[in-house]
Formats: sequence, C-alpha cells, structure tokens
Amino acid sequence: MTLAVSPISDYLKSLHASLQSNDDGEVATYIPELGLADPGSFGICIATVDGQVYTAGDVDSRFTIQSMSKPFIYGYALHTHGMETVLKRVGVEPTGESFNSIVLDQVSNRPYNPMVNAGAIAVTSLVEGETADRRYDEMMRYFGLFAGRDLDIDESVFRSEHATGHRNRAIAYMMLNTGMLDRDPEDVLELYFKQCSISVDCRDMAVMAATLAAQGTNPVTGETVLEPDHVRDVLTVMSTCGMYDYAGQWAFDVGVPAKSGVSGGVIAVIPGQLGIAVYSPPLDRVGNSVRGVEACKKISHDFSLHVFDGRTDVHSVIRREYTAADVPSKRVRSMWERDMLADHGKRLSVMEIQGALFFGSAEKFLRRLTEIAREGRTVIVDFKRAAYADRTAIELICQTALVLSSGDCTIVFTELSGKEELQGLKSALEERVGSSLRVRLVSDTDLAIELFEDEILAETDFSLYDRILPLAEIDIFDGLSKDDLQRLSGVATTFQYAAGDRIISEGDDARVFFVVARGSVSVSVTVDGSRTRRIGSVGQGAPFGEMALLDGGKRSADVIADVPVICYLFSVERLREMSDEAPAILPTILGNLVRILSDRLRLANDEIRALQ
Ligand code: DON
Repeated sequence: MTLAVSPISDYLKSLHASLQSNDDGEVATYIPELGLADPGSFGICIATVDGQVYTAGDVDSRFTIQSMSKPFIYGYALHTHGMETVLKRVGVEPTGESFNSIVLDQVSNRPYNPMVNAGAIAVTSLVEGETADRRYDEMMRYFGLFAGRDLDIDESVFRSEHATGHRNRAIAYMMLNTGMLDRDPEDVLELYFKQCSISVDCRDMAVMAATLAAQGTNPVTGETVLEPDHVRDVLTVMSTCGMYDYAGQWAFDVGVPAKSGVSGGVIAVIPGQLGIAVYSPPLDRVGNSVRGVEACKKISHDFSLHVFDGRTDVHSVIRREYTAADVPSKRVRSMWERDMLADHGKRLSVMEIQGALFFGSAEKFLRRLTEIAREGRTVIVDFKRAAYADRTAIELICQTALVLSSGDCTIVFTELSGKEELQGLKSALEERVGSSLRVRLVSDTDLAIELFEDEILAETDFSLYDRILPLAEIDIFDGLSKDDLQRLSGVATTFQYAAGDRIISEGDDARVFFVVARGSVSVSVTVDGSRTRRIGSVGQGAPFGEMALLDGGKRSADVIADVPVICYLFSVERLREMSDEAPAILPTILGNLVRILSDRLRLANDEIRALQ
C-alpha cells in the first residue's frame, strides 16, 4: 500500500480544509464513552480497487466502527449461511425510522433490514462458533480480512455500551419472544456490542469499503473475502437502508451505497472504482456525521461518482473493424499469393472487441456480428482487449454463435487464451459450440487470418504447394541466369524439419539464410521474459533469416516448423566467395531482397493506415 501525491491528494486536502471549519452537529453521548471523542478530529481517505490509498487530515485517529460494522457482518452471514437462511432472519426493506427503532415486520416477525439495530443483532446471532470466545474470534477474523490487518476492540467503549445498551436489550428480548433469536440474548448482545466497538482508523474503513468496491477481494492483501453475488446483496441494502431515515436524500445527493456509524464514521462504496471513508464525530439530527455527509456529497459530485451518472458505455464495445484485404496476416507470401489474397481478403472481417462485456455491450457487438455474418463473410471476433464477460454476455455470445453456426458463414473467436477474466467465455464456447464446423476458437488473430488466407489459396490450386519449389520459382532469386541458378543450387543445402522443430533461435549468430521450399514456419518472439508471441509466419518460396545477408548480427526471433518443412539453406560466406566466378549472384539477391523488404514496408504502412 503506497500513499500517493497527486491531484487527488491535493483535492482531498483542499476539501478537508474547506470542511474543517464546519462545526455543526453534536458528538453522540448516548454511549457515554463516545462523548469523549474530539469534535475537531477529521479525516478523509479514499482507497481504490487496486489498493492505492489517498488521505487528508486525521486518518490515524482510532474510533469505533459502530454501525459501519453492519454491512460486513451481513456479508459474513450471507457467506456462511447463504441468502435463504439469512432472509428468514432479516428482511431487506428500509424502515424510514431511526436506527434503534423497536419495530419488527408484523407479518414475518423479522427485523426490517440488517442496517438497523434489530436486523444487525439478528445477523450477529448467526456468527458461528461453539463458545462465546470462538464466536468472538470468528467475528474478529472476518473483520480482519476486510481491513487487511488484525483488529482489536476498544474495551472502554464496549463496557460503556454494555452498561447502557438497554434499548438494544429490549430489541433482542423482543426478537427472542418472536422466535427471531435462538440464542441467549445476553450472549448475542455481548458479541454485538463488541462488534460495534471494533477499533479502526479511516484507512481501515476505506480499505474495507474498497473491498466491497472490488467485488469482495481485498485490494491490499488480494484475498477474496466475499463472493461477488453477496457483495451485490450487501451493497443493495447499503443503498436502500445504509443511511437510515436519510437514505432517500442520500441516494439523491450522493447516489452510492453507504453506511454511517454513531462514532462519526461514514463509508461509501463506488463499485468497480473505490471505497471512501470519512471520520468526524459531530452528528446531525438523524445520526450521520455532518462533515462525513458533506465530504461524500462533494466527492461524489466533483468526481461524478453517483451511480446514475451514466458511466456505462456500450458504444465503444467495437474498437474497430477491418478486412483481411486491409490487414493481411503477417505471413511472408510470394507475389502471386498476395495478388490472389488482395482480391479475396474482403471476404473476411475482423471485429476487435474492447472493454467490459455485459448485456448492453454484448447486444451491440452481436447485432453487428450477425449483420456481417448474414452477408456471408467470415468474421473473426478478437477479444484481445475485452476486459471480462459477465454471465449474460457469455450466454448471449454462445446463443448467437449457435444460431450463426447453422448458416453458411464461419465465425472465429480469438485471443481468449491465458486471460483469467475470459476463461468463463472460452469454456462456454468450447463446450457449447466447440464441435460446430462453422465456429472456431483460434489462439491469435493473425493465425486466424492466415488460416483463412490458406483456405482461399487452397480453393485455387493446392497442388502448387505439394512439391519442393525449385530455385527458379523463388522471388529472391528472380533475374538470375540459368548458370547462376545452377551454381546456386551447388551451394544450397536442403534440410528437412519435422513439425515443431526449432530452425532458428533468438540470439544465435546470423551467418546463413533460408528459403522455404515446402511447408511453412512460424516466427515468434519472447515477451515479458517468458511468454511466446507468434509474430508471423513464412510460407513456401519466401526467405527467412535473410538479415544475415545484410548485417550478420544476432537472430531477433525464434523460427519453428509449423508442419514437416523442407528448406534451402545458404551460407552468406559461400555466396561472397562465389563473387569472382559469378559476380551477378549476390547483387541480384540483394536487389530482390531490397524489393521484398520495401514491399513489406509498404504493407506495414497500409496496415497502419487501415488500423487508424
Ligand atoms: O447499537 C448501537 O446503538 C451502536 N452500537 C451502533 C449504532 C450506530 O452506529 C448507529 N449508527 N448510526
């Protein structure tokens, strides 16, 4: 966890300074020990879902968590007992009444919701453990997971509340009477008072809120504390009931799930982005921290954090579209192949998908996918820049693929491997459409384009590939006389490789160059120190390792045989030695090489233009 110096820190500091002078409100005294709090103490802390923490003011002062504990213990109950069991004990309806109201739902006998004392006490009774000590340990363990550190309780606040919490006693005994509590109320109350007395600082609360913002994974420790479905349930009750009888106005003004406590803390959760915690003891009429509410209102407004601020964007889900005519595969091909493909490349469209895939964004790109597929074109859907797909998006993508698989176009899904967030989509596609001939999963887009190109070329004259190409038909030897070709074949060594054989290794000295006589090879580089990324391939008649002719440096990539391959290998030194007897060979090869390289450069420029 690092503290950042940034516009956000500066913003928080000036917000803090502007609110420090607001001395409205009264420190709570109904628990006598709380009355000792310093009304001037004031801290603001923001923690992001990736663990960055921004602070302003007094963020190290300790205070008791009080009612801010309620969402977390509700999360514990959901996690441990499941929603059905928990719903039997406590509802999810806002009361519009104060936090300590002595009221139960008259039909179900349940407390209205887990954010008021009655509901929270019922939830605390669900903490597991055979003895009071074990239940206490279990509760503290769980809160520690949220905070990312071991927490203690403030003994004096606990004793103070234990001695004066008669209203809570009334609530607990009333629930014993209606069957909502099945443990000794004194035991449950003791644990509840301890829960309210957990000692935290502003940073702890921001990290706890950020854990809810990060779908239940603590952004500092990386530990998953609560399942996303239960996080959703917790945030829902925080939204509707977290700020008691101020909940409606809060939703209107601030618009994020939140919870306050009588010690003067407020937490707010912005799902997917951050957790906010403010501590300032003076409370308003309904029991919320005056500066806490003001700070949250400002932050929400200034950073556009209201949940209805309309951040969700479905329009940019398609990053771009291009055809294989605009961007052919990276395979090095002969001239005649390139001419063929220039005509037919438009039959393949690539759609690059980006960002989060959920109902709205999936609906948009699938509509476009269907449109292209109906025109009879092959479509590659490239997920390289997709962030994740929720279950609805997965279902919609599978259903669309199933429908399209009965038509006569081919759909290829690419770039789904190795990304944890897209594993669900990959497995669902494999399972549900994996056997279809019309739907394919290919590891990378370039390979998928290359396979499409091979199919186009195979439609023309496949027998051309099924032979060892003679030197006379190889572009790089264009213009050589018969005699020179004869001499060249005298110095050529023919090598055979099995599929998967390594022909060139990155870092080797480059003293020879190759030409593929039959088959094809893949060129790949190592990225991030260990991952292999295929950057293209070289087919029949095309050279590789040809930089040996120019600079004789080190090999910059690995070259592996894709299939059984036959290559011609030429020693650059031997060619130089032949210069006296056949002076035209080397200049002709170099001239052809310049032409081939400038062609490739032109292609690369076209690609850059097409991908703008
Ligand atoms: O139950 C009580 O009275 C306290 N221990 C907790 C109340 C609380 O924080 C209410 N919040 N605004």
